[in-house]
Amino acid sequence: MHQRDELDRAIEAAAREMARASHAVALVGAGLSAESGIPTFRGGEGLWTKLGEPTFDGWELFNEDPAAWWQRAIDFKEEFADFNRAIDEARPNPGHLAMADLEAMGRLAHVITQNIDNLHQRAGSRHITEIHGNRYLVRCMSCGSRDRLESVRLDRLPPLCPECGGFMKNDTVMFGEPIPEDALRECYRQTALCDLFLVVGTSAVVYPAAEFPVMACRRGVPLIEINPEETPLSGLAEVVIRASAGESLPAIVERLKAGTSRS
Ligand code: APR
Repeated sequence: MHQRDELDRAIEAAAREMARASHAVALVGAGLSAESGIPTFRGGEGLWTKLGEPTFDGWELFNEDPAAWWQRAIDFKEEFADFNRAIDEARPNPGHLAMADLEAMGRLAHVITQNIDNLHQRAGSRHITEIHGNRYLVRCMSCGSRDRLESVRLDRLPPLCPECGGFMKNDTVMFGEPIPEDALRECYRQTALCDLFLVVGTSAVVYPAAEFPVMACRRGVPLIEINPEETPLSGLAEVVIRASAGESLPAIVERLKAGTSRS
């Protein structure tokens, strides 16, 4: 973690970059929701650091037998009860609220989030791409249309798409599952448009999400990393804020509002 004066300098530098930028894009990971009580996956306190990584055969199992996959998801709901309860009870934290403020101030054009917890929307952010889906939605594997999970009837498995009759699956993207085309297209579009890239609360080890900041950096776009721990992107970052998102992002908003970071 940064000492106070180092942290202040990093926050000031980040605010200056944000004041100068005209199309800032953020890649967000589980670390932003950690302060809402949702465990991260990796890193010191990560769920998988403690429990070991889960098997990554969900996508294969779904394709082999979608009905059996849904039945298992219903039967084993308890297995992830703690994680699901943490998400259901979670509220947006000051980090989410600060990102919504930055959007409202015209300082943050788009958020690419790896989180499925819907907290950006609840904080008031509008320009969001959920590259790993949203846990409150289902998606058709044929036409890609989405619907609210609560609206899906489970008396017949797998649920079928009302639009095209295709198999529905929860919108959350499983390992090995292709990223939904509409989401991927928007991520590449935003990466091509951006003139500043923030990387907030992600270990930056999962692709294609971790690729976007690297692609921007290759174009000479400055990166700002906000993460208490080092990541593979730290060495590429123009500004590194070794602190929590819940502390750093509101501090950047305050500096921008005070106008102390005129470029
Ligand atoms: N503020 C900012 N960053 C934090 C905070 C915090 N308060 N607490 C933890 N972090 C950092 C950790 O240091 C770590 O680098 O957040 C990062 C979380 O990393 P992961 O747990 O790997 O989460 P993420 O990067 O989002 O994982 C990417 O992998 O598990 C899959 O699909 C899942 O979307 C997820 C993807």
